[in-house]
Amino acid sequence: MNKKISIAIDGPASAGKSTVAKILAKNLNYIYCDTGAMYRSLTYLALKNHCSFEDEAGLLILLNKMHLEFVPTLSGQLVYANGENISLAIRQPDVTKGVSAVSAHRLIREKFVIRQQEIAKSGGIVMDGRDIGTKVLPNAEVKIFLVASVEERAQRRYRENLAQGIAADFETLKQEIEKRDFMDSTRKESPLTQAADAVMLDTTGMTIEDVVKKITKIVQEKVKS
Ligand code: DC
Repeated sequence: MNKKISIAIDGPASAGKSTVAKILAKNLNYIYCDTGAMYRSLTYLALKNHCSFEDEAGLLILLNKMHLEFVPTLSGQLVYANGENISLAIRQPDVTKGVSAVSAHRLIREKFVIRQQEIAKSGGIVMDGRDIGTKVLPNAEVKIFLVASVEERAQRRYRENLAQGIAADFETLKQEIEKRDFMDSTRKESPLTQAADAVMLDTTGMTIEDVVKKITKIVQEKVKS
């Protein structure tokens, strides 16, 4: 495979996007860009600086000063904001609860979209998020829309949290996922929607390997053509 293409993976919370995107990027020797981590990093800084999630101007100041770095390591990708390793902090429940409100602001999205397009401009990228196929990379050669039942997504998040030592209650997680789905897909600015030319994959009951295999097949077809 030598033609380096762009792969957009969108879908609701905990549909398996980042797990699958990371494996694909590794297999293809592509860059992986987790756009959710960008919105999460800003949410973390808002909490740290006592900036309201509704204060778009305040959030914009934090964003303009935020120096974000993704550092690949053998045990996964680390996220640094202004030199601080926030990889674990951005997965904590307080950030997860606030991130939909932060990501709903138009000016915040405009800035992040520019950064994301800059990262992707040379191709050879797997980018996951909510608006990648519709807004960030509308010309991506491969667009995947990953979905799964809310029960399965809550189960996955529950297991992930326990593995990371984050206290979790299944019913609460399920309600939070439903709330985030609702906020992300009904907001005014770039709501979560399937791009007209995206392939929908329902991963309920599928293993990660099966999902990766399916997408790899789609990618191979594209690279050949
Ligand atoms: O993928 P994630 O759960 O880490 O994303 C966190 C939140 O960030 C998600 O609830 C909505 C927002 N987000 C977004 O609005 N656009 C993106 N491209 C990625 C994430």
